[in-house]
Amino acid sequence: MIAPFCSVKGLSVRYGQEVALSSVDLDIVKGERLAIVGESGSGKSTLARALAGLLPKRVKIEGEITWPALGHAPLPGRDFGFVFQDPGTSLNPVLTIGEQVAEAARQHLRLDWRQAYARAEELLERVRIPQSASVMRAFPHQLSGGQRQRVVIAAAIAANPALLIADEATSALDVVVQAEIVRLLDGLVREEGMTLLFITHDIALASGFVDRVAVFRNGELLEAGPVRSVLSSPSHRYTAALISSHRDLSTQPLITEAVS
Ligand SMILES: Nc1ncnc2c1ncn2[C@@H]1O[C@H](COP(=O)(O)OP(=O)(O)O)[C@@H](O)[C@H]1O
Ligand SMILES: [Mg+2]
Repeated sequence: MIAPFCSVKGLSVRYGQEVALSSVDLDIVKGERLAIVGESGSGKSTLARALAGLLPKRVKIEGEITWPALGHAPLPGRDFGFVFQDPGTSLNPVLTIGEQVAEAARQHLRLDWRQAYARAEELLERVRIPQSASVMRAFPHQLSGGQRQRVVIAAAIAANPALLIADEATSALDVVVQAEIVRLLDGLVREEGMTLLFITHDIALASGFVDRVAVFRNGELLEAGPVRSVLSSPSHRYTAALISSHRDLSTQPLITEAVS
């Protein structure tokens, strides 16, 4: 058996009295695209932060998270990139796009500024931003929400991390832009062989492109499995309800096939 990329065993997380995660067991396979789905408050972001080692100190954590394939705890930016919901808050309003993406590259790749700028421009092209040279000199407010999220993704993958964690990365965007960003993430993880943790409340959106789905409710992992089997025969009524509460899944070819 191949060692999992990341192994979570008996993970429980409490914020004071509030139980955010309860005895979660989950393995992440190298190179897979895994969706973490569940309603707001189900513990998705807590799981992402626990994996990333980004939970606040006061939080009570039990259980263990190991990285067998990596052999060490992952370093932010270097081993994993993080993309959050709101590209507005991830970017500094007073620095140019070029400065911010170059800084991400410089920090993690030991480049000097000139090399880092060249790398930044290359990264903007990788995330399919047109006219990357002029976007380098732009400030965040001059870009659309979708373009800003592309910039955040460029910074997140600056050091070729093995893992990309996208936490509701498309939730603030309108449906068309959302689909474009999903397509971009899908293409990038395929090209780079990255592992993707795609966190969303929208199971329909995730199931259009991920390999596996893990369903959370109230801090518990209800079920995890290949996207087709979870969609066609969910083990929990909650999963079935989650599926039917989202936009018409039958419009997506993958799912029509699974259901029929
Ligand atoms: N910083 C925090 N302090 C206290 N409670 C928190 C904090 N962050 C999250 N929680 C609680 O933990 C639970 C899980 O939250 P979260 O992981 O953010 O869920 P999700 O990302 O699925 O919306 C919720 O009940 C939430 O209120
Ligand atoms: Mg969240």
